[in-house]
Amino acid sequence: MSRTTNELRQAYLDFFKSHGHTVIPGASLVPENDPTVLFTTAGMHPLVPYLLGEPHPGGKRLTDVQLCVRTQDIDEVGDISHLTCFEMLGNWSLGDYFKEGAISMSFEYLTKVLQLPIEKLAVTCFEGDDDAPKDTESAAIWEKLGMPKERIAFLPKAKNWWGPAGLTGPCGPDTEMFYWVGDGEPKGNPKTHENEWLEIWNDVFMQYFKKEDGTFEPLAQQNVDTGMGLERVAAVIQGVESVYDTDAFTPIIEKITSMSTAKSDNDVRHKRIIADHIKAAVFMIADGVEPSNVDQGYVLRRLIRRAIRSARTLGIEHAGTFGSTIADVVIAQYGSHYSHLVKKQSGIKESLKKEEEQFKKTLEEGLKQFSKMVEKIEGKMIDGKTAFHLYDTYGFPFELTKELAAEHGFSIDEAGYKTAFEAHQNLSRAGAEKRFAGGLADHSAETTKLHTATHLLNAALRTVLGDHVYQKGSNVTAERLRFDFPHPEKMTPEQIKQVEDLVNKAIKDDLPIAYHVTTVDGAKSEGAIGVFDDRYGSEIKVYVMGDDKKGVFSKEICGGPHVSHTGVLGTFKIQKEESSSAGVRRIKAVVSGGPADIDTAGEAQG
Ligand code: ALA
Repeated sequence: MSRTTNELRQAYLDFFKSHGHTVIPGASLVPENDPTVLFTTAGMHPLVPYLLGEPHPGGKRLTDVQLCVRTQDIDEVGDISHLTCFEMLGNWSLGDYFKEGAISMSFEYLTKVLQLPIEKLAVTCFEGDDDAPKDTESAAIWEKLGMPKERIAFLPKAKNWWGPAGLTGPCGPDTEMFYWVGDGEPKGNPKTHENEWLEIWNDVFMQYFKKEDGTFEPLAQQNVDTGMGLERVAAVIQGVESVYDTDAFTPIIEKITSMSTAKSDNDVRHKRIIADHIKAAVFMIADGVEPSNVDQGYVLRRLIRRAIRSARTLGIEHAGTFGSTIADVVIAQYGSHYSHLVKKQSGIKESLKKEEEQFKKTLEEGLKQFSKMVEKIEGKMIDGKTAFHLYDTYGFPFELTKELAAEHGFSIDEAGYKTAFEAHQNLSRAGAEKRFAGGLADHSAETTKLHTATHLLNAALRTVLGDHVYQKGSNVTAERLRFDFPHPEKMTPEQIKQVEDLVNKAIKDDLPIAYHVTTVDGAKSEGAIGVFDDRYGSEIKVYVMGDDKKGVFSKEICGGPHVSHTGVLGTFKIQKEESSSAGVRRIKAVVSGGPADIDTAGEAQG
């Protein structure tokens, strides 16, 4: 039985109401009491005080639908399942039911209300670590309900642990529910066939509080926090391939199609980007955000301008009515549930119109400057500083510089742009850009520490395994670092121990850290490591960990930031060493026990 997005939203709230939950309104997209996060990113976000023990006026069982914005996946927007702006259905137990209650209600909702065949469902549970035990309890509940063992996977913290939403706060192990979207009969589980299982719901067992020092302490009450992606569930129920093919998006996409006058290679993606971004913009403006150069306003500005960029490739006129025409369709679709959109419709459209007109001026000025610039260039490469100048002085988006460059047969030194950009990061606009990229306002000492630990790990791996090791990939979150490097075989436990010991010794020696600016050749000749490909700009930073007195442990090309001395990292631990792809190993590691406050490393003196 197919249901519309509006029906599915209501069905969820009705179901949890019938199970004793109070239906509460979703909160504003702009968090009220949390300066560390720009937008509400999950249904639990406005409920943090209640998860910590404050009584909620609605009681101990709550349910709602929360409009969320997450910008960290922005580059994925336009594929089948990613959105910057989405609706999260949720139910909460504030010290009331726990695993048994949460999982059995989830199961009942999926199989009875949505009538999803159990054969197409799979779940994951937390595999356990030093902070919390393996969640065999949840797995046993799933099995009892009829979930076959082979559809239950155990995964580590990086996958099956949720929160906190900011730096500190309530969090815990979770059990996630997936639907088979692969070809043919369902196979394995999300661990064995990751890309063929689509996550649709997450039940988090919030029983811990993450402290600033990175440790976890039990909460006074055991809570449940769940989040179901409405758009994804709609796609599953409506049997369509992507969230953009659901009934909520179809009229928006159709409108965009009717406005297009040109074909682009990437038609589908551009239409989806426009639909997602303008929808996000409509909701942001409705919650009081105006385009600007800082914070939420800057994210909004970027979204509108990215949408305009996509509009350009589709030949859509974008000098005043583009955004507001699409906004009308968005509001027609969402206004029945989000009535504030209807009330604010004219203001929303006005705001989009103004931004579009302003951007048009920026584009015209930028195009002039671009033409002047290319006339002066010898060769076919636009250097990073010039591209940055266009951005910094004329507000000309880098993506657009890239597009224009390609049209004129030029390439751009992207790494150089990044270096120039980072050098200006203390400017508020650039600072906001960084936040835009990260989604959260990550002033996190934890990520800086882990980033520094990545350099120490790289150096230690080269000492233990050999000089063939280099950074093939790196990903740092506030919880852990992930480092990919070429190596033909699994590391032995002894090698892992040796690497850990080397890193911990470097931490214990409390090596000073500083950087200097040099050229690629300069870095090479002083023996700095790095990936010497053409991603680097003309000027680069080399971070040195250690000095003449204590010995240089690591010297590596990098944009930073890093801590100012290694002692603050605490204790380094490798949690996992595994294969990433043929001939490439992946390490996940953590640091713990260091102080919460850190200084970042500055430029070397003398
Ligand atoms: N807070 C949890 C999530 O966002 C439910 O996935």
